Amino acid sequence: MMLADLNENALGPSIASGSCLEVGQGATLSEIGLIHVPEESCEGLSRYPDLHQIELKQAFCDFRNVRDGAALTPANLCCSTGLDDIIDLLVRSLCRPGHDQIVICPPVYHMYQTTATINDVETISIPLNTQNNFQLRLTALQQALCSDPNIKICFVCTPGNPTGHAISFEDIKAVLDNPGWRGILVVDEAYIDFSPRSPSAVRLVNQYPRLVVLQTLSKAFGLASIRVGFAVACAHLSAILNNVRKPYAISGPSIALAKAALTKPSLAILDAKLMSIFEERSRLARELGRIQGIRVRGGLDANFVLFEVCGTTSEFSFSTTSSIAVAPINQFPQPSAVITPSG
Ligand SMILES: Cc1ncc(COP(=O)(O)O)c(C=O)c1O
Repeated sequence: MMLADLNENALGPSIASGSCLEVGQGATLSEIGLIHVPEESCEGLSRYPDLHQIELKQAFCDFRNVRDGAALTPANLCCSTGLDDIIDLLVRSLCRPGHDQIVICPPVYHMYQTTATINDVETISIPLNTQNNFQLRLTALQQALCSDPNIKICFVCTPGNPTGHAISFEDIKAVLDNPGWRGILVVDEAYIDFSPRSPSAVRLVNQYPRLVVLQTLSKAFGLASIRVGFAVACAHLSAILNNVRKPYAISGPSIALAKAALTKPSLAILDAKLMSIFEERSRLARELGRIQGIRVRGGLDANFVLFEVCGTTSEFSFSTTSSIAVAPINQFPQPSAVITPSG
């Protein structure tokens, strides 16, 4: 049983058995797969973890540089306890409470608005185009961004949660090239590794100083529990975020597990699991499309599929005790839309 609205990876983490778990300063926690951790292996836990996470950042840069043709160095990264924490960090660092605004494009991940509200920052919504694969309504968005100098952040989620569609890369560049807006574009790529055909915006960060790209180990890497996420930006912006974030936020065991997940053997496991998720996702969308009264609305760029239940919802009853968990998307234009995990 998995909770559909959390979009966890049901196939579990991609970490090779026997991976070395270094917790810093030469100490090793244990080997993955051991239930009993020898006491002497835990010595490193009495130390504070690596403050700047340089080795972890380098491993992540190596992964992205190979996979996405980026030219990243650790100076481009700010690492924290998952993207939810980084979203909060961005709003706190860049917006003045009671004064500034953010822009979101719903239906979209709720934490942008929730975080803004908690920080007394107003949210402006420019909904996605439901008639065009949930793409940006670019003209309306560009106009909105230029309408008020207090709009400090625009969040774009690609591939979208809950839409499952990747946003056009050209549209993202068009927002960055908007001469009338001086705010920060945050491109949330939590699901990017489920969409190998979609170029990651990380390759643009050294070219566009007002771009932040968010990536996490919670989804494709199947490591939601260790709470590791990255903000990728130009070195200047990244330094600001690193100065504002809490020191030692990421624990030593989390850093060790994240590093283990980025080794070559672990990445081979990741790729194999992704292949299986891609196959299952296509099968799920195909089979859903065969059910009368169900229309697949979302794209196949994430690890879930958005579909619409046509007619009145009373015709279809989804038991809350069903092992096939479904999540109603309250913010969706039709309240009958649900998403279901595909792997
Ligand atoms: C689009 C999107 N961004 C960010 C997150 C949060 O990720 P993390 O687990 O790194 O906090 C989620 C989680 O579901 C998400 O769907």
